[in-house]
Amino acid sequence: MTDQKYSELAIEKIAKTKINDVDFDNINFGRKFTDHMFYCDFIDGAWQQPKIVPYQPMTLEPSARALHYGQAVFEGMKAYKDDNGNAFLFRPEDNHRRINISAARLAMPEFPKEYFMEGLTTLMKMDKDWIKPGVGNSLYVRPFMFAIDPAIAAAPSEAYRFMIICSPAKAYYTSKIRVLFSEKYSRSADGGVGYAKAAGNYAAQFYPTGLAQKRGYQQIIWTDAKTHEFLEEAGTMNIFFRVNDTLLTAPISDRILDGITRKSVIQLAEDSNIPVEVRRVTVSEIKEAATNGSLKEIFGAGTAAVISPISAFEHGGEVFEIPDTENSYALRLKKQLLDIQHNLSEDKHGWRYEV
Ligand code: COI
Repeated sequence: MTDQKYSELAIEKIAKTKINDVDFDNINFGRKFTDHMFYCDFIDGAWQQPKIVPYQPMTLEPSARALHYGQAVFEGMKAYKDDNGNAFLFRPEDNHRRINISAARLAMPEFPKEYFMEGLTTLMKMDKDWIKPGVGNSLYVRPFMFAIDPAIAAAPSEAYRFMIICSPAKAYYTSKIRVLFSEKYSRSADGGVGYAKAAGNYAAQFYPTGLAQKRGYQQIIWTDAKTHEFLEEAGTMNIFFRVNDTLLTAPISDRILDGITRKSVIQLAEDSNIPVEVRRVTVSEIKEAATNGSLKEIFGAGTAAVISPISAFEHGGEVFEIPDTENSYALRLKKQLLDIQHNLSEDKHGWRYEV
């Protein structure tokens, strides 16, 4: 796409804002959307004029390939506001890089960085009132791309739509969660699409997660498909284990998403001299650590989930409760992360991106 001539962003503003219909104190994740949305179509081998228009339903041919073959990828990112009304995104260029990695794996075209950054920042400025100040408030930003070609041969589409929609957000998990270590179902396999934010990766988790939920577990910690002995990620978040004072997390691979919150947490832990081991973590070592008391914490890290502490896990019919710990790493790292995101502390790694 490097030789593409960029067309100007076209803007159509909403006639009357919907913001007064939203109760910002009672927000369910991903249910309300801001006034505007961004879109850009890929037709005849080129990205067409990018547009920002009022958020609205769209028409799609029933034969659109995304509906049949799941040729669709997405991203998750957040915008924050400080008490002076300045708004920031968090590491947005990393989301751009990652959606193109996901797109390549799904045989989709790369979306140009110029279009992404301009569309995103203009949308943030137009819908800035929807970003509420205060730690705990954010605007969840969802870029996504899907195949729109009206053709049902099982082959890559020739036409795509790239979009960004935004939704005000509070906590994704409102309290500590209980999880099941997977013994039967798998999320991903070597050579597969686990590292991509492919829509189908998430749909495939709904059924087993539903079974777990019926038994009182909010999430599944996925294990490797071959042996179910290595703990990998939670689907909505990467996963960290604290054994004594050391933080453990699995290395990224074909099967594990390269989480932006994950790598920020690793960096913040290292900045605080917390020992971090990025290596394969086994079910047996975590069960043993839970039994002998050296397992202090388990927590998930993701854009929507932020840092979500886990209070118990089940494996092999045994339930392990994780008692609260003093000096929780999860709480400390969460505060450090949120303070950077909300412009309350120094941003020495240059993660904030003012819009
Ligand atoms: C995110 O944290 O942005 C995600 O993509 C997880 C999502 C399924 C809510």
